[in-house]
Amino acid sequence: MSDTAVTIVLGTRPEIIKLAPVIDACEERGVGYSVVHTGQHYSEELDAVFFDQLELPTPDHNLAVGSGSHSAQTGAMIREIESVFLDEEPEVVLVQGDTNTVLAGSIAASKLDCVLGHVEAGLRSFDRGMPEEVNRVLADHAADYLFCPTDQAARYLREEGVPVDRIEVTGNTIVDSVIGYRDLAAEKSRVLAENDLTADEFCLLTAHRAENVDDRARFSSLLDGVAGFASESGLDVVYPIHPRARERLDEFEIDLPSAITTVEPQDFLDFLRLESTARLVFTDSGGVQEEACILGTPCVTLRDNTERPETVDVGANRVVGVGPDAIAAGARDALDAGTDWENPFGDGRAADRILDLVGVGPATSVGGVSG
Ligand code: UD1
Ligand code: UDP
Repeated sequence: MSDTAVTIVLGTRPEIIKLAPVIDACEERGVGYSVVHTGQHYSEELDAVFFDQLELPTPDHNLAVGSGSHSAQTGAMIREIESVFLDEEPEVVLVQGDTNTVLAGSIAASKLDCVLGHVEAGLRSFDRGMPEEVNRVLADHAADYLFCPTDQAARYLREEGVPVDRIEVTGNTIVDSVIGYRDLAAEKSRVLAENDLTADEFCLLTAHRAENVDDRARFSSLLDGVAGFASESGLDVVYPIHPRARERLDEFEIDLPSAITTVEPQDFLDFLRLESTARLVFTDSGGVQEEACILGTPCVTLRDNTERPETVDVGANRVVGVGPDAIAAGARDALDAGTDWENPFGDGRAADRILDLVGVGPATSVGGVSG
């Protein structure tokens, strides 16, 4: 048995970025914590680069599970995570988001009756065809603490019958991360010069979701739509390409339209700089929809739905699907609209609120979320 108060389970790029503030808060409070990395992401540019840049400690456990089918990957993670929990007997387990790592951490914790906290709880796309939707619903219903980024997320949970005393609105830890690194990105990043880009004269594209890139017709259609708008507007498009999307592009032998330039996945500072200075962001990423909204860059979401409706409600985001006409129309609308919306994801103190609520370390006076 060890004196681990909190065991943090993570495994992919967005979880590393969004749990970094929680890890920092554990350090600041002197809380005994450990980090379990499932190894769902393992390529340097999706993994180690973020530990280095965000100055995070090397994970206490790297389970090196790697890629695989959903059940093979999730099952392998559950088995390995369980043995860590049996050894460490954590007071609280924290998972974040909606990946297979989150599902595995949630099942392992609930089977051992560990107290489980789900960070970024209550998001719903209402599309059970997405693996992420299944993962987040199951994690929410296994969790003892549900840390919601917004009131809307809390409402969804109450409507599903989650006991109200488990539900807390904390804001999203991505605001903590963006506030922590936005100025540093502006100061240090050389990404514009290195890629021959001029602020406000390019669009940023990310697309990696299985429902888009694993379907040849959808992937081609979204690329054509973005390229069509690029030609019409005269804006360049830079596409930091996720390995899943790179593999599909090659496998489907899709000719990338010349208006779109692919680059390697970026580190966090460079990516924040690209998001802050782009005229427009096209994405199917969850985290990128949030960050564009926080940073004041208009976003066009290349999906049929979003689990981040707050970004649409404040006028920061348009959900257009993958049809070229709809993409161009959404992009025109985004450019015409203003950018003076309010960030709906909280005040950047989510990590402190989460640790206060689970009762580890000295409490802060952060109080409730304040917009
Ligand atoms: C996963 C999440 C998705 C999230 C994304 C963040 C699930 C079901 N999906 O998708 O919700 O938006 O992470 O980026 O959990 N690969 C590499 N190197 C790596 C990891 C993966 O090359 O470090 C390649 C492998 O070929 C792998 C493929 O990418 O088969 C997909 O990886 P996987 O972790 O299954 O899903 P992601 O698409 O990354
Ligand atoms: N990101 C990054 N470099 C990139 C693309 C994304 O650092 O080249 C960051 C981005 O800032 C955001 C997170 O990765 O914080 C989003 O992850 P991703 O799009 O892979 O997953 P999702 O949010 O869709 O689950």
